[in-house]
Amino acid sequence: MPSALPIADPAPDDGLLPASAAVGAQDRDFGVYLHVPFCRVRCGYCDFNTYTATELRGVKQSDYASQAIREIEQAERILTASRLPPRPVSTVFFGGGTPTLLPVEDLIRMLLAVESAWGLKSGAEVTTEANPDSVDAAYLAKLADAGFTRVSFGMQSAVPRVLATLDRTHDPQRVPQVVQWARQVGLQVSLDLIYGTPGESLADWQQSVDAAIACAPDHLSAYSLIVEPGTKLARQIKRGELVQPDEDLQADMYEFADARLSSAGFQWYEVSNWATDAAHSSRHNLAYWLGHDWWGVGPGAHSHVGGIRWWNVKHPAAYADRVLASLSPAAGRETLDAQTRDIENVMLRVRLREGIRIAALSEYGRRAVAGLIADELIDAKAALAGTVVVTLRGRLLADAVVRRLLE
Ligand SMILES: C[S@@+](CC[C@H](N)C(=O)[O-])C[C@H]1O[C@@H](n2cnc3c(N)ncnc32)[C@H](O)[C@@H]1O
Ligand code: SF4
Repeated sequence: MPSALPIADPAPDDGLLPASAAVGAQDRDFGVYLHVPFCRVRCGYCDFNTYTATELRGVKQSDYASQAIREIEQAERILTASRLPPRPVSTVFFGGGTPTLLPVEDLIRMLLAVESAWGLKSGAEVTTEANPDSVDAAYLAKLADAGFTRVSFGMQSAVPRVLATLDRTHDPQRVPQVVQWARQVGLQVSLDLIYGTPGESLADWQQSVDAAIACAPDHLSAYSLIVEPGTKLARQIKRGELVQPDEDLQADMYEFADARLSSAGFQWYEVSNWATDAAHSSRHNLAYWLGHDWWGVGPGAHSHVGGIRWWNVKHPAAYADRVLASLSPAAGRETLDAQTRDIENVMLRVRLREGIRIAALSEYGRRAVAGLIADELIDAKAALAGTVVVTLRGRLLADAVVRRLLE
């Protein structure tokens, strides 16, 4: 079951943005996120806004690209009418759901629509997420030909028993194969892993990290398994069929991954993300963390432009009704005040390797720095140079570091 939307002000039907959204826009990158809300089966742990064939209430996946293109055209008109300066797109990210469940031609049509609305910046990063069993060599070659630069595969684990607990459908042997096909056509590759699955041992996790490294990706994300309320996983744990992920074991798994990845030539740049070098960081995700502007296209997608944040209706049927009637699909929106923007800035930047300037903290935050150094949660040398950068221990306790800087 997908999670609920936030509660906020209603969004206007015409989608127009207030004048404040344009202030400073020239200095911010502009990205586009395209949500594809379909999956063949729902993984037991996942509460993303995605639907299997039986949950679609008559909506056809084959109609989706045209609907998303309607929103892209609408977005271009709204930004122009709201006096945002024309900005070519720096990054495009197709996420899901499973974008690669759609025919490759649909993804290409959506990318072309983004290009014709705003143009792509030279060297733009264009990524799609993909499940390993949803692509083949020909599909990946067509993506590369059409201007995609990057693919992010949901590997999750190399251990069949762990994949089965997660309800993943792919054969782990397929991961090196799809990575090789992607590389052959010049796509950069990222792999997603999950650690802390019930029943997963440290040895299982070590096997998965080593298998991921053996694929030689450019980028790797490792997420601790979150038990989201309302999911099948949460019910299985409640009924005692599966054990709750163990936080100490998850910490050991994180430390192992960081050490192994560092010795294999990867560097962390965000708490859950490692890349072979800065050029292979996910520029799209960095733009989220650095507070740039992005338009989120599709059911349930979130957008942010100049301190205005909004989110679309969640169900693909409601979304289709809105865009086909030329109405904004936004369900609600909020204007972030200066204090909320400062708080979010601290929350996001603390998670980044480049950290946050001590001078940018409130007086309270600046006073907390000495205690965080004493507790080895932030790096003393970096603090002397004027920046809060979390240590390995600080990465494990990033939320606690944020609390101490903000409380
Ligand atoms: C929502 S999926 C979309 C991409 C693709 N469908 C897939 O599963 O690979 C993106 C990533 O979110 C992560 N994810 C989703 N739910 C999660 C959870 N409850 N805990 C940790 N990671 C999660 C998975 O690692 C997944 O690769
Ligand atoms: S395939 Fe990805 S988006 Fe779909 S249910 Fe599984 S984790 Fe969620």
